[in-house]
Amino acid sequence: VRVLAVASEVYPIIKTGGLADVAGALPIALKAHGVEMRTLMPGYPDVMRLVSDAEEIRSWPDYFGGPGRLLAGSRDGLDLFVLDVPHLYARPGNPYVTTEGVDWPDNGVRFAALSRIAADIGHGLVPAFVPEIVHAHDWQAGLAPAYLHYDNRPRPGTVMTIHNMAYQGKFAPELIGAIGLPWHALNVNEIEYFGGISFLKAGLQFADRITTVSPTYAQEIQSDEGGMGFGGLLRARANVLSGILNGIDISVWNPQGDPHIAYRYGAEDLTFRAANKAVLQQQFNLDSSDEAPLLGVISRLSWQKGLDLLLEAIPTILEQGMQLALLGSGDRDLQDGYQAAARANPGRIGVVIGYDEILAHLLQAGSDALIVPSRFEPCGLTQLCALRYGAVPIVSRVGGLEDTIVDIGEAGRDATGFKFAPVTAGALAWTLRKANTAFHNKAAWRRLQLSGLATDVSWRNRAGDYAALYRSLMAERA
Ligand code: ADP
Ligand code: GLC
Repeated sequence: VRVLAVASEVYPIIKTGGLADVAGALPIALKAHGVEMRTLMPGYPDVMRLVSDAEEIRSWPDYFGGPGRLLAGSRDGLDLFVLDVPHLYARPGNPYVTTEGVDWPDNGVRFAALSRIAADIGHGLVPAFVPEIVHAHDWQAGLAPAYLHYDNRPRPGTVMTIHNMAYQGKFAPELIGAIGLPWHALNVNEIEYFGGISFLKAGLQFADRITTVSPTYAQEIQSDEGGMGFGGLLRARANVLSGILNGIDISVWNPQGDPHIAYRYGAEDLTFRAANKAVLQQQFNLDSSDEAPLLGVISRLSWQKGLDLLLEAIPTILEQGMQLALLGSGDRDLQDGYQAAARANPGRIGVVIGYDEILAHLLQAGSDALIVPSRFEPCGLTQLCALRYGAVPIVSRVGGLEDTIVDIGEAGRDATGFKFAPVTAGALAWTLRKANTAFHNKAAWRRLQLSGLATDVSWRNRAGDYAALYRSLMAERA
């Protein structure tokens, strides 16, 4: 099976969130299942710098308002198509926002251009790679299935994967003319969304199959609340919607061979985690103590992640004699709130504002528990890394968190962590107390850690689910 993936972020080349991890790991895991995947991404400066042996396949003097080229290249075992259009992508920093943090005003054109070329590759633009399936990730690629639909030619099958329902790619209706979609598409049964257009809606409307990144989130988004405006559409398309859990790259996340942690360890020598904990305490200016349970957080700081609730639960953390190490960046209020908490509680609360991959590894290796109190979570990856590193996850009972963690109270299965509901500061605080009690029962805690380490968080089986989906779609279209 030949599949063109379309993604705006691909780890290790460029990443703002879990989408990049998935787009970077899935193609490699799919090889074992006989799927040949190439990934199309925009030529951001980091991409142009990091992709070697890039070879020009096509060029245009005027691609959406300036010169553009399609390149083929590779990096870290990934086969890539790069859309190099300097007037759209050669900009500093984050792929979506200016250095002041506001959306680039031409994001609609920037990502329409990406989807347009995806559709053209789907039609056979690159004879050496004519895909049987085009697999679009998130709103940035949402127009790919729509272009393929409106082009009205024989076309490959299409799959749309939702990594996050909250990012919908909404633009003014006038954009339609500029991006070469027909004006008649502007109605609620096609791509109109509350008077404008939504790239995500376009993808959901026209893809042959819709997937999201956990079975529970696949259910949640069919409700009015969880669907964030698309509940009705997704209920209508329920027969083609499914949830496939994410995995993590277990060679990148491997406590036995991790170059970023102070002491490497496996299931047999979990006691070495104490040495990582000591280094972590130093780096976060926390009191050195093996007895105080150390809670870790690695997260974007946004409403989704529920970290305002954890801020409210800080009195409980202190009263229970626990410590907190938080690594994250995002909303100003949350950054300020955590920094103030760290100032007020030296030695007990440690905060690093920023994005730091090396520190993220040390946090997984040295924290006793990892907290993910999300209001909604399509899948979540940090709790999977935590399982693999022996940090016990404490998570809210939503989306992929529900599907990947077994609560200590669940009968008949080996518990791997703690789940709380409803998603409130009160329920979180109560669960932190429960976790603290468990932590001081060394045997019980060890059992949680070992069950986590024994959990399969790799891509192997999950990639198999995608391969099966591609094959069933091809069989249906044959
Ligand atoms: P989301 O994509 O919603 O942000 P995920 O849990 O799916 O959430 O993926 C987040 C990814 O980004 C994980 O690989 C996590 O380790 C990483 N990450 C998030 N925040 C930071 C940070 N401040 N520093 C380093 N890595 C981070
Ligand atoms: C999104 C979601 C996260 C998911 C990731 C990768 O960013 O917020 O839950 O793990 O995509 O699918």
